[in-house]
Amino acid sequence: MRPDPIEVRLLVNGVERTATVEPRTSLADCLRDKLRLTGTHLGCEHGVCGACTVIVDGHAVRGCLMLAAQAEGCAITTVEGLSPPEGLSPLQASFRKHHALQCGFCTPGMLTTAHALLTHEPDADAYRIREVLSGNLCRCTGYVPIIEAVLDARTHYRK
Ligand code: FES
Ligand code: FES
Repeated sequence: MRPDPIEVRLLVNGVERTATVEPRTSLADCLRDKLRLTGTHLGCEHGVCGACTVIVDGHAVRGCLMLAAQAEGCAITTVEGLSPPEGLSPLQASFRKHHALQCGFCTPGMLTTAHALLTHEPDADAYRIREVLSGNLCRCTGYVPIIEAVLDARTHYRK
């Protein structure tokens, strides 16, 4: 017998949202399928590629490995939440400036991972950025401009 659906309450990009999901529904599926925030991408769906990365209570988290139920009451930032009402965030603008994307499939996860890193470590050096972003796979292999874009954006995170 299937378990009954549950209701989860999430603070997504600063807005309180509720969704009715199955207990086994992942946070990424909840965001995409229930809340229509399709900027969060799904690649491997088992924690390897990083495409599904969102920020949960300040930490970069794989949305495919976390249940929506586990995120009850958490503050979640998706790639949509990084952008100001108009235009691009400084990090997004830096990705554009450095041509740090090709097909763009990995880009939401790269942006959320880099945003969480620079929020906590605005002076992260190239080694540290590579270390943290090593959990995000880019099938187009454009890693060098991605690192350059993140390095260039650091100044916007310094207080
Ligand atoms: S889809 Fe979550 S890590 Fe690949
Ligand atoms: S830009 Fe295509 S997967 Fe990274």
